[in-house]
Order: sequence, then structure tokens, then C-alpha cells
Amino acid sequence: MILDFFNVYEDSKRAEAYAKLEFPGTYYLAYRDLPKIIFKHVKGRTALDFGCGTGRSSRFLQKLGFSTVGVDISADMLEKARELDSKGDYRLIKDGDFSQFEDQAYDLVLSVFTFDNIPTMKKKVVNFRGLGRLLKNEGRIVNLVSSPEIYTHEWASFSTKDFPKNKHAKSGDKVRIIQTDIEDKRPVEDVVWTDEYYRETYKKAGLKLVKTYKPLAKRSEPYKWVNETRIAPWVIYVLKKEKS
Ligand SMILES: C[S@@+](CC[C@H](N)C(=O)[O-])C[C@H]1O[C@@H](n2cnc3c(N)ncnc32)[C@H](O)[C@@H]1O
Repeated sequence: MILDFFNVYEDSKRAEAYAKLEFPGTYYLAYRDLPKIIFKHVKGRTALDFGCGTGRSSRFLQKLGFSTVGVDISADMLEKARELDSKGDYRLIKDGDFSQFEDQAYDLVLSVFTFDNIPTMKKKVVNFRGLGRLLKNEGRIVNLVSSPEIYTHEWASFSTKDFPKNKHAKSGDKVRIIQTDIEDKRPVEDVVWTDEYYRETYKKAGLKLVKTYKPLAKRSEPYKWVNETRIAPWVIYVLKKEKS
């Protein structure tokens, strides 16, 4: 359990480096199956990108045809998102405060990596509840997060070998990981959260799990995969409102 968690993305140097990141290596695998998953589960084309960062995931949704609003708590990240996409709609929020958005307005809420940086059960539940309220009755939340295994292995785009303490981390504990594709090599601090804990979180937030995906890489893909062909670094949850 941690009380001193700091969102590492509230930082202009990190934002600068993150803005240059597109879809290299392990990130490619995060996004590879999203179009198929989204089109299988989501009807309609209005989306809210929760934790949009420098806008990579929002631009991705726009390309899929979604009218998209990007939302983040980091002004530094949003500044870069607006620089890269001057016509985009990017909004700063306070943690868990969705009052500037209309209820039941979105067909899709996409969250890519964001919950890795939301530290406690309480905060996760508040955010999921708020996002559930923004969903239309038939809407879906697609929540992509890091698997616990990402923090204990090596990857095309990440290294964790300098952080042996990660091996003992339980849900809610801080873990460290280095992104090898960007200039900023300071470790990122995330919070590990197991599948069991995510299921409990969804229940507490009034959400129902529709499907879980754990994408694996293929040897034929043009990347130097390390563990990605046998261990899934990402987990993708599709969720709906319990009472829809
Ligand atoms: C790893 S970045 C991912 C950005 C983007 N989704 C992408 O795929 O490129 C995670 C983002 O989540 C944001 N974040 C963390 N906690 C948040 C919260 N409580 N509400 C909204 N955004 C949050 C961070 O500021 C950061 O910009």
C-alpha cells in the first residue's frame, strides 16, 4: 500500500520525450489488436480517451473514425498533445472529476496505460465509476493495462532487470520500469495490479467484465521480440455497465 505516489507524467521533460513516441516494439503489440477489439464490441463513434497523455491514443481513435475528446491530469502532457494536433479536443481534469462532461454521452471510453498510474483501489474505483457514468447504456470501456509480468521480464521496449524488488511487489505496490525507446531513461514508477484485483475493482465500480485479451507477438513481425511471443506484456479488458 502506498501513500506517496506521484504521477511521473506531470513533468515537461517526460512529456517532451513521450510526444516523440509512436508505436515501436512492445507498444506496437499494445495497439495492434485494438481496432479489431473496438469494432467488435463498440457501436457508435463517440469516444473519450482517458489518460490521453501527449495524444497518441486520441489520434489513433480519430484515425479509426471516432470523434474523440482526450482527457488527462497532466498539463505538460496535454500541452504536447495540443502542439501535435491543434484541431483536437484535449481537456485537463482534476483526478476523478468528470463534471465538465455530459453523462451517457460516449460509445467508447478508451484507457491505454492510464490505470498503471492510478495508485489505490479507492482512486481506481472513483475513476471507473465516473467513466461508467459517461458511457451510453450500450457503451463500452476498453481498459488496456500492463500485466504484472511486464515488471519482472525484459522486452523489446522496456527493461526491468535493475529493479529486483519488482519480483516481490503485490497489488498496490510501486514498481519501476525503464522505457528503452525514448531519450528519457529515468525509470517510470507504476503500480502493479493483478487480474484478480482488477476484477474486484470493476465489481466495486458497477462494471461488468465482457472479455479479456492478452495479445502475444508473432515471430513473423518485424521486431526484435524478447519475451513478447510467450508472455503477454499487456492485458486488455472490455467492460460494460452492470445495469445497461
Ligand atoms: C503512459 S501515459 C499514456 C498516454 C496515452 N494513453 C498513450 O497511449 O500514449 C499515461 C497517462 O495517464 C495520465 N493519468 C494518470 N493518472 C490519471 C488520472 N487520474 N486521470 C487522468 N489521467 C491520468 C498521465 O498523466 C499520463 O499522461
